[in-house]
Amino acid sequence: MDQQKTTGDVTVRERIKNVSQNFFLHIHAPRIHQDSLTPQATWGLGVILASLFFTQLITGMLLMIHYTPSVESAYYSVKEIIFYVPGGRVLRNIHRWSAHAMVFVTFLHLFRTFYKGAYYGTRRTNWVIGVVMLLVVMMMSFSGYLLPWDQLAYWAVTIGANIAASFRELTDLIGITGLFDPGGLFKRILLGGQEVGQATLTRFFTLHVIILPVTLLILIGYHFWRIRKAGGLARVVRSDEDQKEIPAWPTALWAELSIFLLVAATLLILGLLLDAPLKILANTNLPENPAKSPWYLLGIQEVVSYSAFMGGFIIPLLFLGFLFYIPWFDREEEESSGVWFSGKAGLKITWLSMLLCGSVTIFLVTLSLFITIPVKPGSDLSVLLSMLVNPGTLSVTGYFIWAWIVSRFTSSRRITVIALFTGFMTGWTIFMIIGIWFRGENWHFIL
Ligand code: HEM
Repeated sequence: MDQQKTTGDVTVRERIKNVSQNFFLHIHAPRIHQDSLTPQATWGLGVILASLFFTQLITGMLLMIHYTPSVESAYYSVKEIIFYVPGGRVLRNIHRWSAHAMVFVTFLHLFRTFYKGAYYGTRRTNWVIGVVMLLVVMMMSFSGYLLPWDQLAYWAVTIGANIAASFRELTDLIGITGLFDPGGLFKRILLGGQEVGQATLTRFFTLHVIILPVTLLILIGYHFWRIRKAGGLARVVRSDEDQKEIPAWPTALWAELSIFLLVAATLLILGLLLDAPLKILANTNLPENPAKSPWYLLGIQEVVSYSAFMGGFIIPLLFLGFLFYIPWFDREEEESSGVWFSGKAGLKITWLSMLLCGSVTIFLVTLSLFITIPVKPGSDLSVLLSMLVNPGTLSVTGYFIWAWIVSRFTSSRRITVIALFTGFMTGWTIFMIIGIWFRGENWHFIL
């Protein structure tokens, strides 16, 4: 008897095909525009992200078999994974590298959706969900950072907690910290106490393995559904569009499967060749110098080094508020949706903003190395002045002034938003680069 046969004339292979086709077509619209399948439409970034997340889930679940979330055992359980568990070293490496890649690619995906004007009309919700996902991805990566309980983990999270407490600079200045201390509250919520300890590890572990992945899974499902609801990806609508629509099955499936395999192969090679760091066991009495947060928070840490309140609270809040507000501020839907940089004018402003905002940021940081405010250090006046007159605050003010000038000259909200977004992103990248490569012991500038 034919092994493939089941009831009637339906073979097992056909049944599998039907089920997978059904699942696939629930995620995708049944028809897809040919333009959306070209590499430059998305650079495959969303699918790369989904592949990375899937890899994280699988490797994370396997790592959990051997990991123990206790201050006494966490470090040794990670060592066991590296040295005794068959394939454990590669598994851990893949988990670590794909976590970093996920943060990085999320930013690239944000750039592509922004510069391609994919946040108009019904896509607005997806943009907002995307910004929330960006935060969740960063939190997922940050919560995982503590789990090995080595020096790197302990001191990076200590720095993160100090950033969370940065509101205190203001309450200390006004002298009301005893009565009203949101900075202290943020820090306690993050750590589960005053310092990084068992409560923090338990908190971070729960966030990392349950709360955040489940949240992200739900958000990703909703994100995909919203793309369907919006009628596919943003693109330029042309008169011949009907002829260019093709069935999503199986063309898109093959394209997405290829991207997934490419991501998996790259991660496997990376995992085999490059070991994720594991320093000595966390020592609460031996601070790392310099103690640095993970790379994606180093831009903030750099700005915090000028003023805790501005760098750790006001500037990130302004930036986040701006990201959320973009689709409400700019509604120039018709001309800009699906067009890279909205054409030549937008591209020109992008380059100009990078050049101008980048130069201003570098100039202000350089100036701060040579000029100090002539006021008694530690005095209220010096704290107040350093809040207002520092490279972070001044640069961000500069980005806003630049965007205002652009809005005056172009009267286009899309071009204005491109100027501000590019300014912010360029500045943030520069501060991050300074934090990563140009800060040494006691946060002194090094070349
Ligand atoms: C875990 C994180 C994320 C995953 C897995 C994900 C996945 C995807 C996928 C597969 C697509 C369709 C293909 C593509 O555009 O590459 C997409 C589109 C989209 N994503 Fe994301 N995304 C994530 C985060 C974000 C973020 C941070 C933003 C921006 C704030 C964002 C905004 C959008 C928008 C607006 C679209 C629609 C694009 C269009 O209509 O052309 N996503 N996403």
